Amino acid sequence: MYIHYNYQVINLLLITNLIFFFIIVVLMAKLKKTNKAKKVAPEGYESPNDFFNSVFSDKKMIWMGQNTNHLHSDDFISNAMIKCVESKEYCKYPPPEGFPHLQNLILKDLGLEDMDILITAGGTESLYVCISEIVEPHHNVITCDPGYLIIDEFASRFSNEIRSIPIYNEECGYKLTPKLLKKHMDDNTRLVILIDPLNPLGTAYTKEEIEEFALIAEENDLYILHDITYKDFARNHFSIAKYAPNHSITIFSFSKIFGMAGLRIGAVITTSELIDCVRSALINDLGTNLIAQAGAIAALESKPKWIDRIVNTTRSNQRLIKEMVDKIPDISIVAYPSDGNMLAIDIEKTGINPVDLESYLLEKKIFTRRGKYTSKRFGDKYLRVSFSVPENQLKVFIDEFPKAIEELR
Ligand SMILES: Cc1ncc(COP(=O)(O)O)c(C=O)c1O
Repeated sequence: MYIHYNYQVINLLLITNLIFFFIIVVLMAKLKKTNKAKKVAPEGYESPNDFFNSVFSDKKMIWMGQNTNHLHSDDFISNAMIKCVESKEYCKYPPPEGFPHLQNLILKDLGLEDMDILITAGGTESLYVCISEIVEPHHNVITCDPGYLIIDEFASRFSNEIRSIPIYNEECGYKLTPKLLKKHMDDNTRLVILIDPLNPLGTAYTKEEIEEFALIAEENDLYILHDITYKDFARNHFSIAKYAPNHSITIFSFSKIFGMAGLRIGAVITTSELIDCVRSALINDLGTNLIAQAGAIAALESKPKWIDRIVNTTRSNQRLIKEMVDKIPDISIVAYPSDGNMLAIDIEKTGINPVDLESYLLEKKIFTRRGKYTSKRFGDKYLRVSFSVPENQLKVFIDEFPKAIEELR
């Protein structure tokens, strides 16, 4: 009787423990997703949306905080969209995977005519659907720090671990190198994120490095996600898809060189086999905004007419920033020249917190970004500044930045 009673108690305890354990696991899983997605509002604002709305609504604000491009002075893109609006064809749904004409123009732009493509609502959607399809719960994903943290957030929803490799040092050239990849990968590494050029530092990959990454991907049966959002600003660009077509995914955006960030349009390019899987994960099953697609077609068709001017202005703006930075003691550009339309200014030695510098400049109507936005480890060291803005606006920054350092030191 005594023994029988003990068994009952033990069974009851075991069952209660199991239920308790199950509840904790479910709660933690929920907490993991919501915590990761949570964005913090900058000081003085109710929410991130409140902050962005305030910056957006201020017509005098100089927009150097989101790597957007404000140099399109001609009307090719806007005229095409106006024509599309006037046709009132927006009452129809567009083809779900994008207009074939636009798909072909993108593939031609990249020299990847043999690959398959989906038009998406921006590089962001491309990143999310690809990561969600490729990564399984036991996989790890390799990214770098500094980097574009939204990718880490997406990957953390689907994988077991994000291996964010520190690259803020001269030894690796401020980028994730094949050597670093080999050191940190293992049998569970499924996806490697190469942002090329890198947001926020503007470092880009050489042909040899891309070839080496391609080899690693093929030999280890993993995927390289090549985010080429800034490729047209770079002095040289080498597509991993040309070296490892079956182990690469290319993420394309119209937000930067094409100056179409608000239109939310991009693409994903990979093999037909992988596109078949990604297609099933698409949320926008009824297609991407057709006015944006009309603009994107015009953007690619007119590209030869504006690309040189925009790239040259961006580069000359970068030189002006360099001249200004060189005159200020204790600060430096982290990687110069940047191959993107943004760079990072290291201010650690001044003792100034990038958050204070960002706030000071915001008061002067210049929108830049604190390092924390693109780095968990090194965010206290730098301010990110993008410079595809008209020269008169850049000059305001050049005037105000030294004053800000002087004032806050
Ligand atoms: C590396 C990188 N990928 C993707 C994006 C987002 O692209 P899209 O505006 O096309 O969603 C950004 C935006 O800043 C970026 O820096």
